[in-house]
Amino acid sequence: MIVRSQVVGCGAYLPQQVVTNAELACRLETSDEWITQRTGIRQRHIAAAGETTSDLATAAAKAALAHAGIGADAVDLIVLATSTPDHTFPSTATQVQARLGMSRGAAFDIQAVCSGFVYALAVADNFVKVGQARTALVIGAETFSRILDWNDRGTCVLFGDGAGAVVLQAGEGTGNAADRGVLTTHLYSDGQYYKLLYVDGGPSATQSTGHLRMEGREVFRHAVVKMGEAVDAAIGAMGISSRDLDWLVPHQANRRIIDSMGQRLHLPAEKVIVTVDRHANTSAASIPLALDDAVRDGRIRPGHLVLLEAMGGGFTWGSALVRW
Ligand code: ACO
Repeated sequence: MIVRSQVVGCGAYLPQQVVTNAELACRLETSDEWITQRTGIRQRHIAAAGETTSDLATAAAKAALAHAGIGADAVDLIVLATSTPDHTFPSTATQVQARLGMSRGAAFDIQAVCSGFVYALAVADNFVKVGQARTALVIGAETFSRILDWNDRGTCVLFGDGAGAVVLQAGEGTGNAADRGVLTTHLYSDGQYYKLLYVDGGPSATQSTGHLRMEGREVFRHAVVKMGEAVDAAIGAMGISSRDLDWLVPHQANRRIIDSMGQRLHLPAEKVIVTVDRHANTSAASIPLALDDAVRDGRIRPGHLVLLEAMGGGFTWGSALVRW
């Protein structure tokens, strides 16, 4: 028998305010037609003034714990993926820890931009597998609206705010693809591409927060290739075929990238979870938000095989194969 990190609950939170493409078109030289055709995005949620990443994360964490039927006192690890922390320090994870009323265990942030949730899941899974944690909260939470240049139509229409979380708990498995839990994770990065997608501020470089800058076309080209490699690695590592997958839950950046990943895996469109139309790109929050959506409406069920994949600034990219 081996230890497997099993998913025992999930939760999500979206800020109340919804901004449609039509509303953006009133402030910028853009149109609903351009945004929908190029990206599939129709609307995004935007955090209220004073609503922070830890607010969103705490709400998602509470929902995930309630779904799992577990009290915060059972959690001994919080790994929170974000590129938009409340403060430079302390970590947003420790803010969430305090607000959940936890004073034990360990909590820390992970920064891998849009791949953040896959990175956080891999880290938490490894803590559970070596016995350093038994019950872990893995959270992706972002307020990207705070780092957007709202005058740059090439980027500001693409992103939204939100948070999602899963609860992992140590369970047993036999080491094959029939086990429940996280089966395999693959993480990659290549820092030479940082200028294609980055924030032009930061405490050390500029003593300011800065704004997101992106070469969209180049990012698109790399995303398809790199996420393709990551999903091939996941499938190869477990000796399965893409036909065995019940669901693909991709990072929600762009409908065209999502569709091309589904086609690469020869998956029918109904097996690919899509939320980018309603949430836009919520970076590290996009995968757990999409997971929660599909679990709550009964699509993802216990025993289903779910493939996650993402790419983000850095570049970072990766995949995770999970039997729900
Ligand atoms: N409204 C109207 N026109 C616009 C807008 C807008 N919001 N934004 C750009 N344009 C214009 C440009 O100015 C350009 O005009 P020009 O031809 O007169 O110069 C024209 O549209 C084409 O611009 P491109 O940037 O070449 O358009 P493209 O077809 O590449 O689409 C997009 C842009 C949607 C950003 C696309 O490249 C993309 O989705 N890339 C992936 C980026 C991404 O998803 N990043 C998220 C983080 S990484 C990740 O999550 C995978």
